[in-house]
Parts: sequence; C-alpha cells; structure tokens
Amino acid sequence: MALSNREVGATSHELLGAQAHVWNHIFQFINSMSLKCAVQLGIPDVIHNHGQPISLSELIAGLNVHPSKAHFISRLMRILVHSNFFAQHHHVHHNHDNVEEEEAVELYSLTPASRLFLKDGPVNTTPFLLMILDPVMTDPFHSMGAWLQMNGGDDLVPRTPFEVANGMPFWELSAKKPRFGDSFNEAMEADSKLITRAVVEECGGVFEGLKSLVDVGGGTGTMAKAIANAFPNINCTVFDQPHVVANLEGTTHNLGFVGGDMFDKIPPANAILLKWILHDWNDEESVKILKKCREAMLVSKNEGRKKIIIIDMVVGYINNKMQLDKKSIETQLMFDMLMMSTVTSKERSELEWEKIFLAAGFTHYNITHTLGLRSLIEVYL
Ligand SMILES: C[S@@+](CC[C@H](N)C(=O)[O-])C[C@H]1O[C@@H](n2cnc3c(N)ncnc32)[C@H](O)[C@@H]1O
Repeated sequence: MALSNREVGATSHELLGAQAHVWNHIFQFINSMSLKCAVQLGIPDVIHNHGQPISLSELIAGLNVHPSKAHFISRLMRILVHSNFFAQHHHVHHNHDNVEEEEAVELYSLTPASRLFLKDGPVNTTPFLLMILDPVMTDPFHSMGAWLQMNGGDDLVPRTPFEVANGMPFWELSAKKPRFGDSFNEAMEADSKLITRAVVEECGGVFEGLKSLVDVGGGTGTMAKAIANAFPNINCTVFDQPHVVANLEGTTHNLGFVGGDMFDKIPPANAILLKWILHDWNDEESVKILKKCREAMLVSKNEGRKKIIIIDMVVGYINNKMQLDKKSIETQLMFDMLMMSTVTSKERSELEWEKIFLAAGFTHYNITHTLGLRSLIEVYL
C-alpha cells in the first residue's frame, strides 16, 4: 500500500527537496564523464595553446569533432564552467568606429583545476583520470551489492567487487593486461610528480640525516628519482614487483631498481618509503608489510635515523585543530570505497593507523598534514 505524505513525514515541498538531493547524487557520474570527455578531446590544451581566452568557434575549430556535432560543445562547456573546470567571460567586441555595432562574445579560459590536464604541464593528471574512469575500475561498482551478499569466508568467492567484474584480482590483472597495467603505472607516475614536489619542498626535513632509503612499491621510480636528485647523499632503491621494474635503471649514482615481493623480503635500508602502499592492503596484510620493513631496517648496517615514511590518507584528520572540510572528507570516503571495490583494503583514520603500527611492534609515530588530502606519517624504529 502506498504511503501518504503524512506517513512519510514530509510535505510536498520537502519531498521535492529530497528528490533534488537524490537526483544530484544519481547524476554525479555525469560530472566525471563530462570531464573525461573534455580531456579526451584535448580541450584544456586547445585553450592553453590559444594563448588567451578563446571563443566557442575558435575552440571548436581546434577540436577534432565532426562538424555535425560541433553545436554540442557549448553544452559540454556549460556544465564544466559550472563545475569550475573552465571560466567563462562575457567579452564585448567593438567595431572600428568603437560604439555603434557591438558584438558580445563568450570566451573561455582555464582554471587551476583544468591546468592539471595540460599535456606538457608540470603536473598532468590525465593518466590518473583515465585510469580511475576506465571501465575496469568503474564496472566493479555495479557488482558491489552482489559481492556483499556472497560468503566472505568461502575461499572460492571473489575477494573484491573488482574480481567479480573482471574475473581476477587487481594486481593479477595489472600484470596480465599491459593496456591497463601501463595505464595504472602512468597514473602513479603522474601523481608522484605532484606529491614529490610537495614533499621535497614542504617536508624536506623528513629526509635529513638519512643514508639509505628503499621506496617499497615504488612503481617506476618517479618519487625515488626526485629524492635521489634532491639528496645526493641518500642511496635510493626502488623496490617493486619484478615485471614493474624490469628494464629500469638508475640515472644517478645513488639510484637503483630491485624486483621482488614485499611480503617476502625488503632490501635493507635505514629508511623505508611507503607511498600509497598500505591503503592497498587490509590490516593483517599491512602489519605483515610493516614487519618486513622493520626487519629491513634492523639488518641495515647504516648508521643514521631509522624510520618508515608513509604517504597516505588519514581520514577526517584534524588539521590545526580544524577538521577537514566536508568536500575533502567526501573525497577521502570515495577513495575508501574505491579501495573496498578494488583491493580488499581501506583508507584509515588516525586510530586505525595507530592500531596497525602497534600490532607491527612500533610505538612512536608523527603525522604531518601538509599534503592536501594525504598526510606524511613517520614511524620510528
Ligand atoms: C598504488 S601503487 C603505488 C606506486 C607508487 N608508490 C606511487 O605512489 O606512485 C602500489 C605499488 O605496489 C606495488 N606492489 C604490489 N604488490 C607488491 C608486492 N607484493 N611487492 C612489491 N611491490 C608490490 C605495485 O606494483 C605498485 O607499483
């Protein structure tokens, strides 16, 4: 039997407000996909290469869209102006006599957010967008409900929605399907460029006094390369799965690559870097990794400070006694759902971090919240 307004406890006005909230939520994916479309068309680069704010007709002329579809571009731009990826200016164009015939033109320019998608920009986040919005990553969300209904204690049941949708775990697929594996590594490199700059510029003190550092799960070495360049006295090693570091070589005297399994043995060093590693693993697995880091630091003969440097999120952290703003927390929670969907793991609150440090035998740590949505955590031996 249908419930009346009185039973639902809301006036029509309130119900319409609730509907607006629901619609906004349902359609959130259209924001992501509109951005993906603009990036695939290369709109940020066309505007940038124009050298000044660009009119719609100039923008269309610079894009490879079929003439029969050109009129759709203004609508794509309208939603992306609304979400602050582009700015729109109303420009009045005077004729030669300066007054009589004026023509109003809409001009578009970049915003700080769309500058992050420039091909030759110092930080290009396009590979990250393309990897996260690849169907390999988005399809598993359709299977999340079904996965939650499956028996988690049954070894034959997929461990993640990712496995339900793609037929194999995330790391196996990344190794077996180079189209996705390469896209994943490029996304990591792109992120590392930005974070490396922030770490070296804003948290450089973290590396002072270190003699050797292993970047565990260091991917193709973007972060370690930058640390090796900025700190020539630190011997840096990138440690990752053999297929990731195959054929890679250090470009400076203090950088090398080693392939292996971090659950088995990590090369000795007095500092270990774990950037975006532990959020990929559940608590039990993370404690195993931390214990392997501990062993690697204990066998290191190098004098100097011994610590693990973690770059990851601390959900809802208190920054200067202020909680993160609502939008930032929402983004952290979205990352958490992505981890649940993809790799059996999670984003952790400070208490959850502390729990795994203690379980791995560490008692002292320090968190620096200067990396946007992520933090830098030093865990001392
Ligand atoms: C999320 S990525 C982070 C890469 C890099 N630290 C960064 O932030 O750009 C996780 C990395 O862990 C590596 N990895 C996964 N399992 C591993 C294992 N068992 N041993 C060593 N590395 C592993 C992956 O190959 C990948 O490069």
